[in-house]
Amino acid sequence: MTPIVPLATIGIVGGGQLGRMTALAARSAGYRLHALDPDPDCPIKPIVEECITAPWDDATAASELARGCDVITFEIEKASVAALREAAKITPVRPSPDTLYLVQNRLRQKQWLRAEGLPVTAFEAVRSEAELESALRKLGPAFVKVAEGGYDGRGQMRVQDASQARAAWDYLGGFESIAEAAVDLDYEISVLVARNPSGEVAVYPPALNHHERQILVWSVMPAPLPEEITREAQAIARKLALALHLEGILVVEMFVAKSGQVLVNELAPRPHNSYHASERACVTGQFEQLVRAICDLPLGSAEVVRPGAIVNLLGDLWMGPAAPDFAAALRIPESRLHLYGKTARPRRKMGHISATGTTVQQAVERVLATRAALTNATESADFSEAECTAALSALSRISQ
Ligand SMILES: Nc1ncnc2c1ncn2[C@@H]1O[C@H](COP(=O)(O)OP(=O)(O)O)[C@@H](O)[C@H]1O
Ligand SMILES: [Mg+2]
Repeated sequence: MTPIVPLATIGIVGGGQLGRMTALAARSAGYRLHALDPDPDCPIKPIVEECITAPWDDATAASELARGCDVITFEIEKASVAALREAAKITPVRPSPDTLYLVQNRLRQKQWLRAEGLPVTAFEAVRSEAELESALRKLGPAFVKVAEGGYDGRGQMRVQDASQARAAWDYLGGFESIAEAAVDLDYEISVLVARNPSGEVAVYPPALNHHERQILVWSVMPAPLPEEITREAQAIARKLALALHLEGILVVEMFVAKSGQVLVNELAPRPHNSYHASERACVTGQFEQLVRAICDLPLGSAEVVRPGAIVNLLGDLWMGPAAPDFAAALRIPESRLHLYGKTARPRRKMGHISATGTTVQQAVERVLATRAALTNATESADFSEAECTAALSALSRISQ
């Protein structure tokens, strides 16, 4: 196979922060870039030569993008499978639209994972209030999620028992959903795997992820896990890359239950928030690796050079009386600011701060310190210092 080399044009469907950071990495290597997004002011806009403004399902626009590009990738599950299939008649789309189709629906995805023999929590398909009620009787405490369209904890609800079936069904809006048994979580991890069309595979060390209110707050790598958990998590990611004939990158979110069992939560065949630290911590960051993989270049090393962490900056930070104090945050050693150029809204991911350190603990402490420096100035309601302190002690417990 002939690699797609610089001066070629990469097309990105989706112009959010993941597309923007992919475009920055591709630019750095000398590629040209085109993008497609419904929002004329999307974050990728300043980074690309051409940005087509069109709805996701506009197959004509997707074909137009394809005609100008040597390869196309996508950064968001909302991209349209039908439009990408049209584009794929003109130029390679990597990962394949079939993989997008699989992950776009949470129910379809979990059914496939189970059929492939991968460990997942017990779940039931839910298409009516009665089905939801009977699912909750079977599952006990559960997370109910709309099958399509939810993200960052939106479109999902934690339910204690079947008496909440009516409220939960109303919350889900009557759409096809999945009910999953709530996992008694010890902690959450993710693993990035890359595969190029020539078949080369690179598996990253797991990241340890701390969520609050179902949204990622901070993440660190390499996750200081018992050796057998690391091995098992990486084996799962490799198996999935092969099963999907992956051309690109895939992040596998996993739960580690108090029982020690590793369960697959969900798949993202694109760059992922929990691997933002890879840009600082690894020889090859996730965005550069995606570019290499879709262009069928040799993959870069996934090895860690120095422990790294990130903390997300949500829109709530901008809602206070004063602007976030970036200067105070950047006084913390080895910290770096990454802003996406978005307009602030509550719970919207606006950017992140990364930091490296001699140990994973130090990297986490540093990003939490940057976060505190920002919030002390703005009194964000979103940040729970106590929960983070608790998470830090959990980190030292896991690593023992
Ligand atoms: N079955 C479950 N058991 C325990 N926690 C869960 C479960 N499902 C979701 N969560 C929590 O909610 C978070 C977000 O859920 P997820 O399914 O990953 O949706 P999203 O697409 O919003 O990331 C998870 O990272 C986890 O913290
Ligand atoms: Mg998730």
